[in-house]
Amino acid sequence: MMTEKRIGTIFLVLGLALSLLQSSGNCDCKKPLGLIPRPASLTLNSGSFRLNSDTAIALAPAAAELQSGAEVFRNFFRQSSQLELAIGGDQGRTQNVVIFELAPNPELEKLGAEAYVLEIGQDRIKISAPTRKGVFNGAMTLLQVLESSEDSRSAPGLKIIDYPRFEHRGLLLDPARHFLGVAMVKQALDAMARVKMNVLHFHLADDQGWRIESKVFPKLHEVGGAGSYYTQDQLKDLVAYAAARNITIEPEIDLPGHNTALLAAYPELSCSGEKVEVSKIIGIHRNALCPGKEQVYDFLDKLVTEIAGIFPSTYIHAGGDEVMAKDWQDFGPNQELLKTFAQKDNHGLQCYFQDRLNQSFLKLGRRMIVWDELADCPPEGAMVQAWRSIGPVKAATSSGHPVVVSTVEPWYLDYPDWPWQLRRVYQFEPVPAGLTPAEEKLVMGGEGCLWGERAPEEKIMVKLFPRLLAISEVLWSPKESRDFRNFKAREKMVRKTLEEQGARFGVLLSEL
Ligand code: ACM
Repeated sequence: MMTEKRIGTIFLVLGLALSLLQSSGNCDCKKPLGLIPRPASLTLNSGSFRLNSDTAIALAPAAAELQSGAEVFRNFFRQSSQLELAIGGDQGRTQNVVIFELAPNPELEKLGAEAYVLEIGQDRIKISAPTRKGVFNGAMTLLQVLESSEDSRSAPGLKIIDYPRFEHRGLLLDPARHFLGVAMVKQALDAMARVKMNVLHFHLADDQGWRIESKVFPKLHEVGGAGSYYTQDQLKDLVAYAAARNITIEPEIDLPGHNTALLAAYPELSCSGEKVEVSKIIGIHRNALCPGKEQVYDFLDKLVTEIAGIFPSTYIHAGGDEVMAKDWQDFGPNQELLKTFAQKDNHGLQCYFQDRLNQSFLKLGRRMIVWDELADCPPEGAMVQAWRSIGPVKAATSSGHPVVVSTVEPWYLDYPDWPWQLRRVYQFEPVPAGLTPAEEKLVMGGEGCLWGERAPEEKIMVKLFPRLLAISEVLWSPKESRDFRNFKAREKMVRKTLEEQGARFGVLLSEL
């Protein structure tokens, strides 16, 4: 027989376990809250709110700025609850309403441009933020609160004050190696939005394919695209689709290496001028644009201008990784250049090339991102992406350059998702020890990189999850709140919804 004391102890332990998972208090939401990334602060209150077919979304003010985010919320919510909410209508309504409020909020001062407050009360729900980004973030949290309930329509009374730890929360997709249809990219953007990832690093050109329609240099997509490329209209549509989800698309044109597809179209831009074919194999290729040819810079100036017209992002990624040019050293003008450099090898030539290219970026008011091969000579205003190790973070930040971190181990999502990998991904810390406070501030965030060599379209959602969830939490939530067991419990809760959106968890060994 169980004594009353024992029963009491069991209930106490159960209660504690539930509160660890941010228990849902006293509403008819049966399960604890499956919030990923974990909010900075959450207070449960009494009462609850249940949405029904009369609930409206009110925009305050009724600004176009808020409309697209409200529509995204409404569509996501409809998928999980089968309920269609009206947007707009009676703006003065105070009951049975979800208010999206764009207004200065003293509680959010100093918490950055993406902070928000979400309050769920007996009569209404209010998301308040000083920016549309903040309002959208709050809406995605509300969605997860609702999806935590049995009918996806109920929420406990609560107040969340939340903001991101990092401003760059990215995912790299690589349609250069395996082309990804527009619908697939939108599916990935939807998944990113749900977990507050806000940068799609879109690797649009490589040895195996050039994927951007070019009106200035049409052979790029006609020859370099090898049959698969995005039209400019499709790309602009993706930019708008992403923007409605608080995501910036930052395109990457990897230069001067990784360029067999470009050179298949315009072979005169390599030093040797040798004819090449769009590559059908993976691995590092030894074709590159020629640093000593003036026509290369004229070509790239026009091309970067065209690309900037499609993508409004402040940053455009200019690559710079794995340059193993076979024809640089023998080219006369390169040798002349080398005489003027301290560094008399291909690396010296690459630093020169990237600096020249940067003039086109600066002229357009854009900034370059470069891979960490250039951490010792980043062009003016450039951000460095650390991928081979965390080491380049110090090198780049100590010279005043911002950094984004995506080291191969463990944040390359094309690498196998071993059973222990999720923990490693979750425990990875993008800010290395040994930085000064000023250098720490220059770590802008990180990216999960899903390279395409082994990721055809049907593997994208398999490989993204669950690791993208872990990355989103590392990049959003306060460092001190990181707790793998707690995360695992919440991960189980968000699975169902994500699986309905096409994510796959618990993959087969052959799919790792
Ligand atoms: C890279 O993985 N080559 C940046």
